[in-house]
Amino acid sequence: MSITLQYIAHSAFYIKYGEYGILIDPFISGNPNAQFDIKNEMVTDIIVTHGHADHMGDAIDISRDKKSVITCTFELANYCMSKGAYTNAVNLGGKIKFDWGSIKFLPAFHSSSNLNGEYAGMPASVLIEIGDKKIYHAGDTCLHSEMKVVGEVYKPDIALLPIGSYFTMDIDDAVIASQWIGAKKVIPMHYNTFPPIKVNPQDFKNKIEAIQKECLILNYGEKIEL
Ligand code: NI
Ligand code: MN
Repeated sequence: MSITLQYIAHSAFYIKYGEYGILIDPFISGNPNAQFDIKNEMVTDIIVTHGHADHMGDAIDISRDKKSVITCTFELANYCMSKGAYTNAVNLGGKIKFDWGSIKFLPAFHSSSNLNGEYAGMPASVLIEIGDKKIYHAGDTCLHSEMKVVGEVYKPDIALLPIGSYFTMDIDDAVIASQWIGAKKVIPMHYNTFPPIKVNPQDFKNKIEAIQKECLILNYGEKIEL
């Protein structure tokens, strides 16, 4: 069965696998760059790495509308539940099983608050195992040595890495991250949405190719087969 990965914009992705549709960090209606047919796509699950508005996005509304379950860390899940969303409250380290595969929440070095500005638990990165592929979404993070553990233990096939600097790691640190994580394919995210995170992704692609890895710069709404 084929796995389709769609880049919505910013750090938002949609994975389609058979009868399953998984949204990650669905910052859609508040983001003019976002390209996603939310009305017609099925969403069985939503993964949210942390509580900031550019990651929570429409998660609560989509969950209420489509009865899709938001999987996120405990404190953020409590907040989502209080707003009427369906939730799976998890924490770092657990392997959460689904009919389509599994998710493991792993560290990200960042902060996390809910839409009221209250503490929302640990921010996270996520390892998604689906079909025969392992996808690592780094969340919002600086470069951190836990990425060496991700590479050594979990060996993802594809890494989605923030490159915009200011709120997360920059291009040079993301190149080091890609080496530590070890994925052959790398997709940049979390850039050009706001003025402080404006960068040229081609600089990242050049540096990734210089270390013999594949870098895919995806357009807003672009879909690839994994
Ligand atoms: Ni953030
Ligand atoms: Mn962010």
